Amino acid sequence: MSSPKTYSRALRIVHWLIAGVFLFIMLTIFLRQNWMNKDHMGMILRSELLKRNIELSGKEASLIGKSIRAPMWQWHTVAGYILLGLYLIRMIVLKVEGATFENPFKAGITGKDRLKSTIYLLFYGCFATSLLTGILIVWGKQWHDLHRIAVKIHILSMYYAVAFVVLHLVGLVFAELGKNKGIISRMIHGGS
Ligand code: HEM
Ligand code: HEM
Repeated sequence: MSSPKTYSRALRIVHWLIAGVFLFIMLTIFLRQNWMNKDHMGMILRSELLKRNIELSGKEASLIGKSIRAPMWQWHTVAGYILLGLYLIRMIVLKVEGATFENPFKAGITGKDRLKSTIYLLFYGCFATSLLTGILIVWGKQWHDLHRIAVKIHILSMYYAVAFVVLHLVGLVFAELGKNKGIISRMIHGGS
């Protein structure tokens, strides 16, 4: 392996901003599917009201649950716009400074590097798809068929997001334990 890789200031800033906002987006998805799920909140509301002899239909309860969830969910969209901006900045940094990982199609690189680069490349491709379909969900309601497809694809984002973060973190732990000690602190201070 060559000498330890260094990371430019621009790359580090944009990496940590993307990491933070991306994890926040994942938190909003987690909340929407669990504690802040509209049907789940509606059920709690319905049973509490029933104890006070007030009856509410399941549908009404879910609708109220949806209204309670709405302000939290707005943060998903706001974070989505921020990620769009960060993605564009990442692409500019890439154009100016070149990639931090090898081209996976290049001959002569190790299998490990090829796998790592393929994962990063796939991640950036899926990331762009999430952003594009997210924008289409909000701004493309007039194109009914396209909108329906965009929603379907967008919802699948959860799978690659979880898979990438797990692989990334596990890969980094192995790198730290193996030949690439200090890789995480280099992503903080840049390396010499
Ligand atoms: C929170 C813990 C995290 C740590 C400690 C961390 C650390 C690192 C380090 C050390 C690298 C350089 C690896 C290399 O040179 O191969 C890297 C690259 C990368 N990280 Fe993270 N990361 C974290 C979270 C995330 C998250 C949440 C995302 C996005 C979902 C992310 C996206 C990326 C990408 C795409 C790269 C490839 C480098 C590039 O963009 O050119 N990271 N990360
Ligand atoms: C990397 C970025 C993004 C990821 C990983 C992501 C992921 C997701 C996921 C998994 C869902 C489905 C949640 C569920 O049904 O439980 C969702 C829904 C949604 N996202 Fe995103 N999203 C991203 C960016 C965006 C952007 C940029 C926008 C818009 C500007 C956006 C707007 C929405 C909206 C409006 C919904 C609700 C769709 C519906 O059920 O009708 N998202 N997102």
